[in-house]
Amino acid sequence: MRILEVVGLTKRFAGLTALDAVSFTAEEGQILGLFGASGAGKTTCFHCLSGFLTPDSGRIIFDGREVTGDPPHRLARAGLARVFRIVQPFRRLSALDNVVLALGYRHGWALNILLSIWHGEATRRRALGVLERVGLAAHADHPAALLSAGLQRRLELARALALGPRLILLDEPFDGLSDEERQSLAEVIARLRAEKLTLVLIERPLELAMALADRVVVLDHGALIASGPPERVRRDPRVIDAYQETGARATARDGSG
Ligand SMILES: Nc1ncnc2c1ncn2[C@@H]1O[C@H](COP(=O)(O)OP(=O)(O)O)[C@@H](O)[C@H]1O
Ligand SMILES: [Mg+2]
Repeated sequence: MRILEVVGLTKRFAGLTALDAVSFTAEEGQILGLFGASGAGKTTCFHCLSGFLTPDSGRIIFDGREVTGDPPHRLARAGLARVFRIVQPFRRLSALDNVVLALGYRHGWALNILLSIWHGEATRRRALGVLERVGLAAHADHPAALLSAGLQRRLELARALALGPRLILLDEPFDGLSDEERQSLAEVIARLRAEKLTLVLIERPLELAMALADRVVVLDHGALIASGPPERVRRDPRVIDAYQETGARATARDGSG
């Protein structure tokens, strides 16, 4: 089933076209990789999909309903959740309480307070269940600030899961993690797909997330230059060029080449 359809999405900032008539789809229960060099327009695409930015033109259809321009909270309640690139849990709260708050958000803040007073144990059990899905149950009582980078990334994922989403947008989840942390996060993400969740994963390095994605789309200077199965896209000359060009620019900027 097609859960997300993006048609001709365009976003301009002053003179710059950050997204240029981009179209793609995502199937339920699959991982879609959204690739591209730095500045290609990936995060802008997520901002539009999650309602943080209104596109200049184009349409976003989620679960059969047009949601273009809907605000973030309405999209989150419709089942479209987003995990930010910068991890931002409530640092002094335990991992569990962070998830409890997210569970409460799903039903509105005031109700959350009532829930925590009257249904403390039930809410706690539900939050623990969410932590288990990301392999964090053993760290339930640890303050978020004391978790390693890899575990904090998983906590962010748990907070998104607490919203009961059908689709999760992940912006560079592997960025800044050790090889080991990447491996275990990849396993968590693959498990969520097995639960029939849909994930859209932004990455810059091609290798990392290519192994995980069922289908990929590649952006370059705001335009979609390739889409399809990862094995085919990674061999596409336009994709190789786009990555080499930005690699060369970075080297020139560093003054080393
Ligand atoms: N709020 C903004 N105002 C002006 N330009 C922006 C804004 N956000 C992004 N851009 C520009 O849009 C382009 C795409 O940015 P972004 O979507 O963040 O790329 P990516 O996530 O692929 O690295 C970049 O050239 C960036 O400088
Ligand atoms: Mg980005």
